Amino acid sequence: MSAIAREAGALLMQHFRQHLKVEYKGDADLVTAADRASEVLIRERIRQQWPDHDVLGEEQGLSDQGSDYRWYVDPLDGTTNFAHGFPVFCVSMALERRLPGEQPRRIAGVVYDPTRDELFSAEQGRGARLNGEPIHVSQIAQLKECLIATGFPSHKRHKNPNIHFYHQITLHTHGVRRAGSAALDLCNVACGRFDGFWEFNLNPWDTAAGVLIVEEAGGRVSGFDGSPFELNSRETLASNGLVHDALLKEFQEVFAGRGLEPLPDPREYRR
Ligand code: IPD
Ligand code: CA
Ligand code: CA
Repeated sequence: MSAIAREAGALLMQHFRQHLKVEYKGDADLVTAADRASEVLIRERIRQQWPDHDVLGEEQGLSDQGSDYRWYVDPLDGTTNFAHGFPVFCVSMALERRLPGEQPRRIAGVVYDPTRDELFSAEQGRGARLNGEPIHVSQIAQLKECLIATGFPSHKRHKNPNIHFYHQITLHTHGVRRAGSAALDLCNVACGRFDGFWEFNLNPWDTAAGVLIVEEAGGRVSGFDGSPFELNSRETLASNGLVHDALLKEFQEVFAGRGLEPLPDPREYRR
C-alpha cells in the first residue's frame, strides 16, 4: 500500500508543477486531471496485485466483484489546495475486510503527503507510524490549550452550520485551523500536531485511512454525539481522547443553541 501511495504521490507532484486544467463538479467542487490520473494508477496497481479486490474510489465509484476485501481510495485529498498551488494535499487509501456474518473491519490505512514526503500508515492492532516511526496522539488534557482543525464542505455550502462550531471552538481553544485536506487533518491528530478535528459530511474515502491511523495512534473518533464512528455517518469527530468529552460538550451546547457568543456586527465594528 505504501509503495502504491508513494507512486501516486509522485504522479501528483508531476502534475502540481505543471499548468493545471481545472473542471467543476459543483459550484466550488473542483476536479483536475491529476485526481483522475492518480486514481487510474492506484486502481491499476491494486488490480495487478489483488485482482479480485473491490475498490471504492472518489472519481470512478465502486467496482464490486463481491470480494471480502474493499479498498477506499481518495486519489487526491485537497484538490482545491492543489488547483490553487497551495501545497497541502495527499493520497489516501484504506483496506477493509468484510467477512460474512461480521462487521466490516478496516485493517490497514496509508496517507501520503508528497509535498513533505510524509507517509502515515496503520495496521489494525499494530499501531500507527510516520515514515516508519511509531506515532502517538498528543497528551493535552485541557481544551483551552488545544490546537484543533476543521473543514468546510465544498458542496451544499449554504446549508452547513459549521461556522457556529468554528466560532465557538475558536474562542475556547488556541485556535482552529482549516488546512483543506481532511485525511491530513486526521493524520495530524494522530501524530499530535493537532489535538482534535471535526468535519461535517465527509465521504468514506476521506476518512477510512485517517480514522484508523488516529485510532491506532491512541486517539478516539466518534460521531458528534459520541456514538461510534461510522464510515457513512457524515459526522467525524477525532481527538487525542483526553479532550473528547470536552469537544462533545461543545457540540451539545452549539446544537442546543446554548452559550453562543454573539458574532460581532461588522457595521457596528466599522463605526
Ligand atoms: C476535500 C478535503 C477538504 C474537506 C472537503 C473534502 P477533496 O476532499 O478533504 O479538506 O473540507 O470536505 O471534500 O475533494 O479535496 O478530495
Ligand atoms: Ca477528499
Ligand atoms: Ca479527492
